[in-house]
Amino acid sequence: MSVALQDRDLGTTPQFTGIYNGNNMKAIKYKKYGSPDVLTIVDVDTPQPKDDEILVRVYATTVTSGDVRLRASNFPLVALLPVRLMFGVFKPRKQILGHELSGVIEAVGKDVTQFKVGDGVLATPTMLSTGSYAEYICIPQERKKGFLCLKPNNLTFYEAAALLVGGVTAMFLLNKAKISKGLRVLIYGASGSVGSYAVQIATAMGASVVAVCSGSSSNMVESFGVDRIVDYKTEDFTGLEDQFDVVLDAVGKISKAEVKAILKPSASFVSVQSLTNPTQEHLRQLLELVEEQKVRPYIDKTFPFTEIIAAHEYVDTGRKKGNVVIAFAEDE
Ligand SMILES: NC(=O)c1ccc[n+]([C@@H]2O[C@H](COP(=O)([O-])OP(=O)(O)OC[C@H]3O[C@@H](n4cnc5c(N)ncnc54)[C@H](OP(=O)(O)O)[C@@H]3O)[C@@H](O)[C@H]2O)c1
Repeated sequence: MSVALQDRDLGTTPQFTGIYNGNNMKAIKYKKYGSPDVLTIVDVDTPQPKDDEILVRVYATTVTSGDVRLRASNFPLVALLPVRLMFGVFKPRKQILGHELSGVIEAVGKDVTQFKVGDGVLATPTMLSTGSYAEYICIPQERKKGFLCLKPNNLTFYEAAALLVGGVTAMFLLNKAKISKGLRVLIYGASGSVGSYAVQIATAMGASVVAVCSGSSSNMVESFGVDRIVDYKTEDFTGLEDQFDVVLDAVGKISKAEVKAILKPSASFVSVQSLTNPTQEHLRQLLELVEEQKVRPYIDKTFPFTEIIAAHEYVDTGRKKGNVVIAFAEDE
């Protein structure tokens, strides 16, 4: 059964009243690693765009699984040192978290030619000195790493905020697996952010998709138009009689060895556990499917930024469905 994408419930819409405060803006900082209550709302200077930068008023950002991991920084011992060397040994180097955003351009530097004031945009702040947990952010118009593009007209700002991290990762993995029409694809962890995009993209590309998720997510995953759902809590998917051209692990919980029995001899196994390197081409393909209404971000819950601790507590459970949005402004 397929439910019209535009009919989905996007959760409650937080209300806002006059949060802008002269030259100051609100940002969410974490000055030490730990539980969600290390996140605090602070006043900081609103950044000023350099000549090649745009200033974006952030409408929404998200809580990704990456955000909660960086905040907690409780990686297994073997990964802890390398991660801490990169992000800060004793305390976080980049104190404003947030990996994706949507918003409206408020000002542009004198050399900016590709965007104008008033444009709706989405972006990932990859390699920038701050993340997207702030009312304003400056982003260079040319990105070596990370993404910046106009917001698709058929997405709300809250939906658009949740498109990039999960969407380009899913597109990267499916390209790596050489997805094409008619292939038999199994997506493990179909209810997460990457999983929900992977199911929609693979279906849109004409693959026949078996989705593995828990029973509590089956209505959501069914709405993406999959061929079959397997509840991993009651059924052993590795015992399926079918064999697959592609198995995509969207939650990093299975290995190629575990699924050997259901892989065709020339099959691909791809996983979020591997290094991913999505490109502008992956973004282009994703935006095309969004414009064709074949892919749409699935929003589980929307929290106002003042409830950031509750939002992180929720994502910490590991049970979020699709994406969790943090709103800095009312959607339009
Ligand atoms: N490499 C990259 O570039 C990249 C990018 C984004 C994410 N990631 C990684 O990808 C992983 C997934 O992130 P995400 O944000 O997409 O997912 P997520 O939203 O954090 O995944 C949560 C979902 O996983 C399901 N789940 C939990 N345990 C499961 C299990 N044992 N088997 C199957 N499903 C299970 C939960 O549903 P139920 O409770 O109903 O099962 C929930 O809906 C994370 O490890 C993240 O760090 C990597």
